[in-house]
Order: sequence, then structure tokens, then C-alpha cells
Amino acid sequence: MSGSSPYVPKSAFARWLDSRLPIVGLVHSSFITFPNPRNLNYWWTFGGILSFMLVAQIVTGVALAMHYVPNSSLAFLSVEHIMRDVNYGWLLRYAHSNGASMFFFAVYIHIIRGVYYGSYKAPREVLWILGVIIYLLMMATGFLGYTLPWGQMSFWGATVITSLFSAIPLVGNAITTWLWGGYAVDDATLNRFYALHYLLPFMIAAVVVLHIWALHVTGSNNPTGIEKQSSKDTLPFHPYFTVKDGFALVCFLILYAWFIFYIPNYLGDADNYIPANPLQTPPHIVPEWYYLPFYAILRSIPSKLGGVTCMFGAILLFAFLPWLDRSPVRSATYRPLFRVFFWLFVATIIGLGYIGSQPPEGGFILAGRILTISYFSFFFIVLPLLNVFEKPRKPPASIAEAVLAKSTPGKV
Ligand code: HEM
Repeated sequence: MSGSSPYVPKSAFARWLDSRLPIVGLVHSSFITFPNPRNLNYWWTFGGILSFMLVAQIVTGVALAMHYVPNSSLAFLSVEHIMRDVNYGWLLRYAHSNGASMFFFAVYIHIIRGVYYGSYKAPREVLWILGVIIYLLMMATGFLGYTLPWGQMSFWGATVITSLFSAIPLVGNAITTWLWGGYAVDDATLNRFYALHYLLPFMIAAVVVLHIWALHVTGSNNPTGIEKQSSKDTLPFHPYFTVKDGFALVCFLILYAWFIFYIPNYLGDADNYIPANPLQTPPHIVPEWYYLPFYAILRSIPSKLGGVTCMFGAILLFAFLPWLDRSPVRSATYRPLFRVFFWLFVATIIGLGYIGSQPPEGGFILAGRILTISYFSFFFIVLPLLNVFEKPRKPPASIAEAVLAKSTPGKV
């Protein structure tokens, strides 16, 4: 656990500071000597990548805010001004918009890793729930940010999503008017969305601090899903995991740079280069790719209130995973049946994402409904019942044993 540190302050200043605020010792015990399971694979590098991306989004966002104008008649033009006139403005904007996609790409891998290896199970429930809160805040931040360029998709996306609140019985219309700050998405809406889009990343940063604090209380899970027992099972964070995380980050940045410099608009929508026009609805209103599976669930339910409930429920259900999954075995490595259903669940999400990108007509409607049922079945049927039918394989006695069995065949 972080807190007790072998750090000894050397200089007179370091001793002076340490006796008043032992912050260097805290960093030392948390990120230098911290004992991590020795068998962590590359899927465990995404937490570090996410931390980097959060900082990158805040830095590029603050710089963009210096040139952006949150006014409904100037917002679109101010973004064009950033792209054309501001020094390296195009780079800032493309880094920020593609950064959002890369951030979501990394968080999806991070979440799926957690599900595969059972990282949500005791004693990491609070760590997991803090993660779900971060994810919800990320979804809100991304949505608010997409409104700011005030293009056609910004305007109509904001209109569709805020109108969902009108489905709430009795108070729905009042809530929607309150959110808009008027009787339609307009200047007041843009202003408040800008204020909140600036605020939320700092709230995410605060929850990330709690997330990493909770992580340092329990320590990381690992591919075997068994807890560390002795010093043989662990390695110090530095240099082993700093180097591994650093290498993964460089690979990730190469992919990020490829998007920024070669295909910066690939993930965007051409309609958002048309200024917002409240009198002309685009033929297909499509959200950013990272919302598509949930958008598909929304549209698969015939009633508006039902759709909204299922869409938010689909996200909130993740918070209950620690209690829905009844199996005592953590890692999917030793759960053959769970592995099958896990991949079916991943395929379901990808399928829903595709349906979300298509117009809601013909076969897409039926496919969306079947996939929505499959999505909820994973939480309500598969996870609670799997434990009854599944015969898990016996996990190794320790992390060290699992590692040695792999590297020196026959020596267990
Ligand atoms: C800004 C977003 C996030 C940041 C910066 C972040 C950061 C981190 C870091 C640095 C770690 C340790 C390294 C690792 O295991 O990869 C970690 C672990 C973890 N995170 Fe996150 N995280 C974020 C979002 C999430 C979300 C959305 C979830 C789940 C819904 C989540 C669930 C977890 C879990 C369960 C662990 C422990 C994994 C294990 O030990 O096996 N995180 N996170």
C-alpha cells in the first residue's frame, strides 16, 4: 500500500519539506517502489495512457478556449478562425477532437480489460464504481464539447439528446426548458454547455485521483486474478512498469498522430462543417462513434421513456457488475463458459454500434432489438446464472507459480 516509503530526503530543503508535507515520499511510495504484480500484461498499460490523455485534453482544450467564442452567431466562425488564422490552431483543434476519440478508445479497452479479468470483484468494487462515474462524466463532457462548433450535427445532436428529458412524466418539459435556458437550443444553451464543458474535465481529474487512491489501497488485479501473497509475486513500479507503460504510450501516440496528421476528419461528420440551421434538420442525425451502441439501444425501444430508461440503464448496469457476477473466480483465463459469453457481449456491443450508425429502418430495427435483448441478457441472465453451470479451471497457487510455469516448462 502507498504511504510507508523507504524514501529518505537527502538535501536540507528536502528534509525541511518532508517534515512539513511528505509529498515526495508519497510519490516515491506510489510510483517508484509500489509493488505491482509481476505478470501484468499490456492491457494494464491503458490506465497510464488514459491519465496522459486526460492531461492532453485539458491542455489542448484550455488553449482552444483562448480563441473560441461561445456565442451562437460567432461560435462556428471562431472555430474556422482557429483552423485558419491561429498559429497551429488546426493542430490544437485536431489534437483535441481526435484526442476525444482516442480517450474513448482507451477507456473502452480499459473497461473491457476490467470485465475480462474480473477486476470489478471484491475488494475492488469502489475502484470500479469510481471508474463508472468517470465514464459517465466523460460521456457528458464529450456530448457538451461536440455542441460547441455549432455546426449542423452539433445543433441537432444537442436538440435530440436534450429533448430526451421531455420523456420524463410530468416534469419532463420543464426540465428540458430549464436545460435549454429557453424554449429551444439557442445562445443560452451554448453558453451553459461551454461553461460545463470547461468544468467537467477538472471533475474527472478529481475522481481520477480517488480512482488511483482506491487502486493503491487494493493494489492491481492481474491476469491470473489471484491476489499477490509474497514479494516473489511483485516487482517495483519503477523501472519495470514505468518502462512498459512508456513504451505502450509511445505506440498509442503514433496511432493518435496518424489520425491527427493523415485522417483528421475520418471520425467526424461532414455535416458539422455546415453552420447550425434550426430550420433544416439533417437527414441522418448520428452521434460520435463512441455513443453509437447506446444510441442504438435508445432507438430500439418503441416508447420514448422506455428508450431513455434503457439507454441510461445500459450504462448504469456496469456499476452493479460486482454483485451481478456471482462467480468466486475472477479471471476469464480460468472461466471457459464466461469467455464465450464475454466475446458474445463484445460482439453485441460492436453490432449495436453498427446499428446505431445506420438509419432506423427495415432490418436494422429488428437487428437492433435482438442485440438490445442480447446486451441486457448478459447482465440479467448470463452473469447471475453462469456460476451455477460453469466449472472453472483451477487457478495456480500464486502469481509467481503462474509466471514460472510459463517461462520454465515443467518447473511448477
Ligand atoms: C480518465 C479515465 C481513467 C483513468 C485516467 C484511469 C486510470 C487508471 C489507472 C492509472 C489504473 C492502473 C493501471 C491499470 O490498471 O491500467 C487504473 C485501474 C483500474 N481502472 Fe481506471 N481509469 C480511468 C477510467 C476507468 C473506467 C471508466 C473504469 C471502469 C468503468 C475503470 C476501472 C478500473 C479498474 C477496475 C482498475 C483496476 C484494474 C486492475 O487492477 O485490474 N477505470 N485506472
